[in-house]
Amino acid sequence: MSSALDRMRALVQKEQDQMNAQRPLLVTGGMGFIGANFVQEWLGAQKSPVVVLDKLTYAANAQNLANLDHDPRLHIVAGDIGDRPLVARILREHHPRAIANFAAETHVDRSIHAPEPFIQTNVVGTFHLLEEARAYWRALAAADKGSFRFAHISTDEVYGSLGPDDPPSTEGAPYSPNSPYAASKAASDHLVRAYFHTYGLPTLTTNGSNTYGPFQFPEKLVPLLILNAIAGQPLPLYGDGLNLRDWLYVGDHCDAIRLVLERGRLGETYHIGGRCERRNIEVVKAVCVVLDELHPHSSVTPHEKLITFVPDRPGHDRRYAIDCSKIERELGWRPAETFESGIRKTVRWYLDHSDWARRVTSGEYRDWVESNYTRRAR
Ligand code: NAD
Ligand code: TYD
Repeated sequence: MSSALDRMRALVQKEQDQMNAQRPLLVTGGMGFIGANFVQEWLGAQKSPVVVLDKLTYAANAQNLANLDHDPRLHIVAGDIGDRPLVARILREHHPRAIANFAAETHVDRSIHAPEPFIQTNVVGTFHLLEEARAYWRALAAADKGSFRFAHISTDEVYGSLGPDDPPSTEGAPYSPNSPYAASKAASDHLVRAYFHTYGLPTLTTNGSNTYGPFQFPEKLVPLLILNAIAGQPLPLYGDGLNLRDWLYVGDHCDAIRLVLERGRLGETYHIGGRCERRNIEVVKAVCVVLDELHPHSSVTPHEKLITFVPDRPGHDRRYAIDCSKIERELGWRPAETFESGIRKTVRWYLDHSDWARRVTSGEYRDWVESNYTRRAR
């Protein structure tokens, strides 16, 4: 008798899973660096459809998902996570089974020079998105309600700077953000936490370390170095170049987020790190060595000759490091790439996608580079 009941339950569960697999995932910020890699991988693995909501800021790039233009599983909406009527309409019309919130203003240097968009999107925008997610989730049928997830993608920068001998930050370590970017992300993490504790919204938060790889806008260190080196331009290192970051290949970051979405414990935070602490000077040298081999005909070689020390970033955090043993232990995730293999893949990608780089490095990008590095030269 009980086995007949079990079989019936298993059947109902299977049907539920199949129906769920047809419902989309809402990915905010899906035209940016990590979001686009995530969407590519998600659809590549033939999972459920995806709806992307992206404001199409300077950091977004239509080309990042251009190969999926005719894929019926992908629906793109241009808009702001803080536009409540729009978010409500998307939720009503597409009935997503989960939301992965990648949308953010992300560049520390920009946050120093113009913090307001960081507050608007990362704090106020996340609040509006949470409010609409909560209203949607509350009205779901019981089974859908149980499987709904709100995954919030955040950064290790919320923990602030570590001393040279400090152990890497674990989940639950005190927040100590130092840049307007880090402070805005910290605020959003706190809101997500509060929505779980107060309203029971089924949230998950990830704090990832410095990520690099294909499709990254070249205001960030690794792609900036690659493109400058190819063009024979200076490779600017802030301060003494000895700041430490933990470097994570984007494919590994996306795999970890997918695992957290599928199997993470509700209300929990998971650190995603590369176990690859490197000083900035080591990063630039590693990029140069790979370019010497893969692009020996640049106008200036060896590429290291281009390294140029420039005035430091105000409030530049010395060291970030996170302990990612929780996700390894609980979800069995491990980064697949080493720093060396990830950098090699990334350099190869930028060399093979010079069209992509040419398009993103026009207009607004040129203005930013000119103002950021001219300011430093003064
Ligand atoms: P990105 O700057 O490359 O992309 C951000 C995307 O969000 C862009 O497509 C942009 O148009 C979109 N966006 C911005 N404001 C929006 C708004 N109000 N509404 C809708 N869309 C909006 O950023 P990324 O590097 O891909 O980072 C994605 C997420 O991962 C961010 O939340 C960031 O804090 C986090 N993160 C990044 C790193 C990293 O090293 N890049 C590391 C850890 C965590
Ligand atoms: P970045 O890619 O801006 O990421 P974050 O500040 O979020 O860690 O910078 C990575 C490190 O590289 C950081 O220590 C600042 C440094 N940096 C440079 O030395 N020169 C540059 O031109 C840039 C953009 C960054």
